[in-house]
Amino acid sequence: MKTYYLTTPLYYINAAPHIGHAYTTIAADITARYRRMRGQEVRFLTGTDEHGAKIEAVAKEAGQDPKTYADGAAEKFRELWKDLGITHDDFIRTTEPRHVKRVQAVFEHLLKTGAIYKGMYKGYYCKSDETYWTETEAPVNDKGRRLCPNSDCRRPLELLEEECCFFKLSDYGDKLLEHYRGHPEFLQPSHRANEILRFVEEGLKDLAVTRTKVSWGIPVPSLPGHVVYVWFDALQNYTAAAGYNPPGMAKDPKEPDFSKLWPADVHLVGKEIYRFHTVIWPAMLMALDLPLPKSVFAHGWWTVEGAKMSKSKGNVVDPRDVCAQYGTDALRYFLFREMPFGNDGDFSQDSFLRRYNSELANDLGNLLSRLTQMVEKYLGGRLPQKPAGDYPLAKEVLAMAPAVEAAMDRLALQEALNVIWAAVRRLNEQVDKEKPWEKAKNSPELLPGLLYELVWCLRAVSIWIAPFMPDSAVRMQAQLGFAASSWDDPAMRQGPDHAQIKKEAALFPRKTAPAVK
Ligand code: MSP
Repeated sequence: MKTYYLTTPLYYINAAPHIGHAYTTIAADITARYRRMRGQEVRFLTGTDEHGAKIEAVAKEAGQDPKTYADGAAEKFRELWKDLGITHDDFIRTTEPRHVKRVQAVFEHLLKTGAIYKGMYKGYYCKSDETYWTETEAPVNDKGRRLCPNSDCRRPLELLEEECCFFKLSDYGDKLLEHYRGHPEFLQPSHRANEILRFVEEGLKDLAVTRTKVSWGIPVPSLPGHVVYVWFDALQNYTAAAGYNPPGMAKDPKEPDFSKLWPADVHLVGKEIYRFHTVIWPAMLMALDLPLPKSVFAHGWWTVEGAKMSKSKGNVVDPRDVCAQYGTDALRYFLFREMPFGNDGDFSQDSFLRRYNSELANDLGNLLSRLTQMVEKYLGGRLPQKPAGDYPLAKEVLAMAPAVEAAMDRLALQEALNVIWAAVRRLNEQVDKEKPWEKAKNSPELLPGLLYELVWCLRAVSIWIAPFMPDSAVRMQAQLGFAASSWDDPAMRQGPDHAQIKKEAALFPRKTAPAVK
């Protein structure tokens, strides 16, 4: 079976990682963990995007050479991913030799095939977005200035006039349209497809792919003074990390086997870089005669308390602060429970606290405490061998697995959590309805079967939440007397015969609102 290959964007290192970066990386981690649990071989790639005018400027401000600056900044990402329990298999930096040598070889090859040619660029450039804009795209405003057309940026543009190389993007419009139409799964979620179709239908212009006035980048070996445009450089990380050998490059047996990894199954990206991944990147792959990734999935953006996150507003959320207050798993849960994966959402202290208390502390945590406590109290902590009975509740809950799986397979992460929480609520209802504490007095002979069935069901929940909340899943399972080895753990087919149940500290202790500063 082909390895499931998924990637996050390579994050710019000009600022510290925040909740937005954590969002994409956790989404990839949830998917990677889920696929591994289902027995699939997975390769999960993340990393950092370290070249370009913006990084050059930030390093200069910090009084460091760009590479020293990059070393420190990349480390911050690595540390955060460790703290958030991210299980990436590879972390690529665009300054690494394995990436640089491939970008250079690809460039030389495309110069030879004519897909890249020399010319002059005159137009506008946004250093913050590392994006070229034309006069028409960025008209002069009423204050006589040209601003970045990206509504989230709006910074002043610089006028560039320099010798550069162009990639013949204009050659690929029809081929791209044909691909989008023939592979509806390529543009995900499907509501984002139209924007890309319209953009390509309007006609593509050739893309400037070298800079001669920037020095912090990958030099083109045959053209002194030219460094590769940062996007043309960074996008290639996906093939470089997979062990792609451009024409003429010998295979290094220590590197991954490209044929096992490529094409990627999914590139996860934020909506603002969708075009780079669905237009420029596939055209580059076509120029190299490589197959295109199976899908590019763009998610939405987080605002914070209703406002765009920005350093100048001082409202950038550091994931570490949230984890310190609520725990890593609560953050991993909240981000995917709050809105459908693909849409925009707002991060607010209020809604976090509300969801934490009602869904994690109460619905799930309290259910586990009540159940483990009752098994300890009424059955001495040990379940019997399967009591005779039909187990309709277990049948009902276990039958929810295909719905969880279908949602996970489609990256409908919120939908998966909705199904899991429907199961959790169903179990709580059953406890409230059956009132085991009354049965203990009136018909104790019914207790073993009732508790046995509830434990069985809660074990299923513990497996389903594992990709989202890996630590809590392990802690839950320890209390429920097992350790799931996979999504289809054999212990689930049978019930929890003879399981030793042990109540431990609350999974999600209730929280109160922090004092207003
Ligand atoms: N370096 C480029 C990507 C190159 S990929 C070959 C880049 N880097 S970035 O640091 O700006 O990261 C952008 C990504 O971070 C977004 O696409 C998204 O995945 C994530 N997010 C950053 N801020 C975000 C929000 N406010 N909300 C959600 N995700 C956001 O672009």
